[in-house]
Amino acid sequence: TALTACGSGGGNAADDGKITMGFAQVGAESGWRTANTKSVQESAKSAGIELKFSDAQQKQENQIKAIRSYIQQKVDVIAFSPVVETGWDTVLLEAKRAKIPVILTDRAIDSDDTSLYETFLGSDFIDEGKKAAQWLVENSSGPTNVVELQGTTGAAPAIDRKEGFEDVIRSKPDIRIVASQTGDFTRSGGKQVMEAFLKSQPDIDVVYAHNDDMGLGAIEAIKAAGKKPGVDIKIITVDAVKDGMTALAGGEINFIVECNPLLGPQLMDLAKKVVDGEEVPERVVTEETTFTQDQAKTALPDRKY
Ligand code: AHR
Repeated sequence: TALTACGSGGGNAADDGKITMGFAQVGAESGWRTANTKSVQESAKSAGIELKFSDAQQKQENQIKAIRSYIQQKVDVIAFSPVVETGWDTVLLEAKRAKIPVILTDRAIDSDDTSLYETFLGSDFIDEGKKAAQWLVENSSGPTNVVELQGTTGAAPAIDRKEGFEDVIRSKPDIRIVASQTGDFTRSGGKQVMEAFLKSQPDIDVVYAHNDDMGLGAIEAIKAAGKKPGVDIKIITVDAVKDGMTALAGGEINFIVECNPLLGPQLMDLAKKVVDGEEVPERVVTEETTFTQDQAKTALPDRKY
């Protein structure tokens, strides 16, 4: 039970012995997010943690409202995946004053005050961007025009996947990003932006999409323009959800960098420790791999999400 340190001051774990977690989710913008939500909900159940769940529809103000309501309800621990990096200090200070520990999951915040949260569990997004670019460096020759479909503006994975990618392509000046715009991590966003790129850019060799969903939207736009995705225009994405892996195995995507959404079990583990006042590492990085078309064919039958 949670009778010690951080959690007990604000929460109700001490009252009924059960931990209550308030989870403020980003939204339901992608296949990745759906798998992540399912993982959180299922693992809370099996860990015996009562979950209060909210969907912010990709809006920071909704997440802030949800966090404030969790503080008011005196949950034992708050976990959230910040839709954007900045602007969290005020509400997290309120949680801190109420002695409710906060765990960041999936996405990080940009704040100088690291005392506002206990730990951050999630991927290394810069590394994901680097892996995407590394494949392109190894698999392209001559002048290569890239269009980039960015994730949600201001979100950690959008900022970091761009940074990591740009860092690596710098070593090969033939590779140029000729256009870059946000598709908000959604399939419809990816399609719309790609349609515009196809009109404004005469010579596109590669699409780098910050997630599978936007890549899948781009595939629709490329086909509608009479071109062959994966052949006329190469596609690199991040996530490796089932729909993305299916397109990769089918030759319409060329390379996917994995981003693991199954963070639930580790999150519940960390939550129990934090509520019990145990030490937890400041940063827990998710282990991830990459997939070529052949590797996707092998992995697909066992893919869980
Ligand atoms: O924060 C993780 C990112 O958010 C995933 O890569 C993307 O699909 C999701 O919307």
